Amino acid sequence: MARDAAAADERDDSPQFLADVVAGLSSPQKTLSPKYLYDARGSALFEEICRTPEYYPTRTETALLREIAADLSALIPKGAALIEFGSGASDKTAIVLDAAPQISTYVPIEISHDALDQAVARLAQRYPSLDFVPIAGDFTGELRLPESVRAKSAVGFFPGSTIGNLDPAEMQQFLLRTRVLLGEDSVLLVGADMLKDVPTLLAAYDDAAGVTAGFNRNLLERINRELGADFDIQAFRHEARWNAGLQRMEMHLVSLHDQHVTLGGMRFSFSQGESLHTENSHKFSTDSFDALAARSGWQIVQQWISPAPQFAMFALVPA
Ligand SMILES: C[S@@+](CC[C@H](N)C(=O)[O-])C[C@H]1O[C@@H](n2cnc3c(N)ncnc32)[C@H](O)[C@@H]1O
Repeated sequence: MARDAAAADERDDSPQFLADVVAGLSSPQKTLSPKYLYDARGSALFEEICRTPEYYPTRTETALLREIAADLSALIPKGAALIEFGSGASDKTAIVLDAAPQISTYVPIEISHDALDQAVARLAQRYPSLDFVPIAGDFTGELRLPESVRAKSAVGFFPGSTIGNLDPAEMQQFLLRTRVLLGEDSVLLVGADMLKDVPTLLAAYDDAAGVTAGFNRNLLERINRELGADFDIQAFRHEARWNAGLQRMEMHLVSLHDQHVTLGGMRFSFSQGESLHTENSHKFSTDSFDALAARSGWQIVQQWISPAPQFAMFALVPA
């Protein structure tokens, strides 16, 4: 197994974390990037969310991938490198690897170091002849692939509707950059959650057992632990909201009363009912995804959509 020396593998990224949290708490609508939800505990809680009865995306996409695995394999050239963005536990990856033994190299790109290490250790046991090039880093930043990977046909894999966590401008920027990263002869497989009835969406982001609430609140625990803040975790409640105008689910942490939080020698005030916006999950139609691909240098060559609750897999090639 090779670790890419050129990739950003900086375990001490707290200066950026601090700068982003200070900027986010200073804006009129307090907000934080969802990428910070995934420390070791956050990644473990996300796996738990995937097992809740309300969180349909994981089981729906997994079933869809099993069903279309042979179609996906037909799009993957011999000796290809599979480059996955936000690979997490790499559970869905195994479905693709099983169906496409012609893949020679697996390049998981993941911000959570613990999730990445565990997933690679597990997959290395299961696929002893596969070459692994794990990259611990931010897929929204500058990425460089080692020469050994650049020499192969690239197949991008971006499941989990993680694309929906980005703002529309960030989605476009990610897709434009990924086109350059993967090259002219590449294929990019993107999983996207589709628009559906609001009760199904609200339940998925606010499960009865409170796992999603714990995942959201863990962000405050992380800020306390890593940045020395003094958030009173119990003084915030989790809220899932449907934003109809922007066609997205939102997660917020709502202050239960007027309070102050100190961080890095600064004081931030929250009034009762004021929220800290922690995540967006945009939902798509085939038209909106097609338009996104078109303005980002890609075109859809094939698409598969599950029965309700609808989840889609889009195969894109450079336009
Ligand atoms: C919604 S989960 C999906 C996980 C997995 N791909 C799946 O389909 O089940 C998002 C994953 O992307 C990772 N992630 C989120 N933002 C990231 C970023 N900016 N760069 C790299 N990884 C990121 C998270 O740590 C998490 O593992």
